Amino acid sequence: MVLKNITVLGSGIMGHGIAQISAMSGYRVVLRDIEKQFLDKAMEKVKWSLQKLSEKNKITNAQVDEYYNNITPVIDLKEAVKDADLVIEAVPEDYNIKKNVYRDLDIVSNNNVIYASNTSTLPITELSKLTKNPSKFIGVHFFNPPQLMKLVEVIPGSDTDPSITNEISNFVKGLGKTPILCKKDVVGFIVNRVFIPLVHEAVYCQDRDNVTMQIIDSAVKYKLAFPMGIFELADYTGIDVIYKATQEMSSRDKKVILPHPKIKELYDRKQLGQKSGQGFYQYKGDKYERIDLSEEKASKYDPTAILGVALNNASWLISNEVCTKEDLDNALNLGMGLKTNLFELANKFGVQKIVNELKKLEIYGEFYHPNEYLLALK
Ligand SMILES: NC(=O)c1ccc[n+]([C@@H]2O[C@H](COP(=O)([O-])OP(=O)(O)OC[C@H]3O[C@@H](n4cnc5c(N)ncnc54)[C@H](O)[C@@H]3O)[C@@H](O)[C@H]2O)c1
Repeated sequence: MVLKNITVLGSGIMGHGIAQISAMSGYRVVLRDIEKQFLDKAMEKVKWSLQKLSEKNKITNAQVDEYYNNITPVIDLKEAVKDADLVIEAVPEDYNIKKNVYRDLDIVSNNNVIYASNTSTLPITELSKLTKNPSKFIGVHFFNPPQLMKLVEVIPGSDTDPSITNEISNFVKGLGKTPILCKKDVVGFIVNRVFIPLVHEAVYCQDRDNVTMQIIDSAVKYKLAFPMGIFELADYTGIDVIYKATQEMSSRDKKVILPHPKIKELYDRKQLGQKSGQGFYQYKGDKYERIDLSEEKASKYDPTAILGVALNNASWLISNEVCTKEDLDNALNLGMGLKTNLFELANKFGVQKIVNELKKLEIYGEFYHPNEYLLALK
């Protein structure tokens, strides 16, 4: 089947970006939302983004118009999907909203259409079972912002036809992105399974070791080669995103995460990170601001526990055959900006030292129990 027509449901943060990159790859795109004002705002953002690309000479003025005109904003669902080969769903991360969307979609869409959900945390198999054709349902997890982030996790559910997985992986490649196959529909998929628990661990480190966030963040940046500190990355991502992912992940699997109450506290206080001027850190304006981290501060902290938690979850993914080690490294590089792969760092720090640290932490819960793959590296 040749995909030509894409319908994106939801024109918010993710939807308008997915629509834009699809339009830039020559697809005819319909962007659907429930109110005209949302679509107007989304189309404005698309225009702004295309114009920026033209200012940087990445596309021509003619291409700005061509790509923009490849997207048709539509409110009526039936009209939106009448020619669709692929529907990408990017409506809010709320099971009941998605359930209603798939119910309505099933009524108006034809039987051949592929459904792809951009959900970050909901189980693909469960969502697929809400639809008339689970074999044509798949997870396609773009990262924010889709215009810039190269990574897309492709997650087949247990009923997804392998030909659909192939087709969607090729579609993602055609958008100039890197599809990484998440072979099993596990909580958090690949990147969030490593990233979200780390945010909680960083707060536990602060409690246990009585050091400042800047010191922990500096150690993470300079000793673990992260692009920024974990508290900084959490504020950049949004505390609301982290809180909701935490809720969803821990409600489905208690062992995947050890939630620290601080995340809920920040969320309840609406301290959502960079975008609200206050999260873990305080920010002056709504412009993106870096925290003052330094090698001098990094020298004051040993981030072995943080590395151990990341490695343990990474090891779980490999030992459960969710992804290959190579795909894991690639995903963490593209999704979290990790410059050095975790297992290389493990050798540098010493696997035995990391395992000892995790064993010491086991008094706080099974979450820290070292995974067999990690143990076998010793
Ligand atoms: N924001 C992120 O960083 C991020 C990253 C990766 C994946 N995701 C996932 O992408 C999805 C969308 O997230 P978002 O951040 O873009 O949300 P958002 O709230 O910015 O946008 C959702 C849009 O969907 C619209 N909508 C609501 N009901 C609808 C319906 N019935 N039909 C069509 N549109 C409808 C809303 O009006 C809104 O414009 C979620 O599943 C989320 O988990 C988000």
